Amino acid sequence: MNFKNKHIISIRDMSKAELDYILAKAALLKSNKDLQILKNKVLATLFFEPSTRTRLSFEAAITLAGGNYIGFADVTNTSVQKGESLKDTIKTVCGYCDVIAMRHNLEGAARAASEVSKVPIINAGDGANQHPTQTLLDLFTIKEQFGHIENLNIGLFGDLKYGRTVHSLSMALANYNVNLHFISPKLLQMPEYNKKYLSDLGIHFTEVDSLKEVGKKLDILYVTRLQRERFGDPLEYEKASGSYRVTLETMNMLSPHTKIMHPLPKVDEISQEVDKLPNAVYFEQAHNGIFVRQALLGLVTGVIQ
Ligand code: CP
Repeated sequence: MNFKNKHIISIRDMSKAELDYILAKAALLKSNKDLQILKNKVLATLFFEPSTRTRLSFEAAITLAGGNYIGFADVTNTSVQKGESLKDTIKTVCGYCDVIAMRHNLEGAARAASEVSKVPIINAGDGANQHPTQTLLDLFTIKEQFGHIENLNIGLFGDLKYGRTVHSLSMALANYNVNLHFISPKLLQMPEYNKKYLSDLGIHFTEVDSLKEVGKKLDILYVTRLQRERFGDPLEYEKASGSYRVTLETMNMLSPHTKIMHPLPKVDEISQEVDKLPNAVYFEQAHNGIFVRQALLGLVTGVIQ
């Protein structure tokens, strides 16, 4: 399978075979941590929006594999402040590196960047749209926890309206034989376009507003943060605030084997007591970002096939 020079923009662009191939490469890298496969490669991390895990795990991924990185985490220190366009920024930076990982607040920004870039663009999140590398590490974690991704009951819980991770993840899970359950307050339901995408593929999902209705069935409860920064109307945010939370009491609504996942950062939607439970796998999930991103960097630069 050839990923050399491919842009990684949306999970919708990838087939099941491609997803499985990337996951297999990431598993090999997790079990062989000392491979210097990215020696002499330079990654540019262009983060127009805040990030902890995505940016740092990309930078850790290339450093641990022998390469280097350049970039910015704060756009106020760049020539964007002087009015430079995204396309001019990309045309310039692609002359300094082998691959670009970019996060932007505008939906479609990564696609626009890929149209002018001479090096592969990896979308590290574009607005409320897509976060494909997060989805890959989510799939990797599911496979690591269960040994497979098939025949699972997966509940996506919380802010399904603005959470780009659940948009990408539900689309990726459409490739596997899973039962999806969308659990959210009415105000935060999965967007219609996302549900239509799944329905058109014949994917079955349920949509409920309470965990009580589906909790005992779930193998995975994937919790999301209320995406405060994407609410246009502060009143809408106030209404939604505090409308869902996972506590020790919530755990009684789940099966003892239900794994709790979260793309992180979390704020107050999961109580700290839950962090200590063996069901909580979200910090291991974040750690897996290194191997999945290393695999992608290796594949798009052509150092792994
Ligand atoms: N999950 C995720 O994208 O985290 P960051 O915003 O910290 O990168």
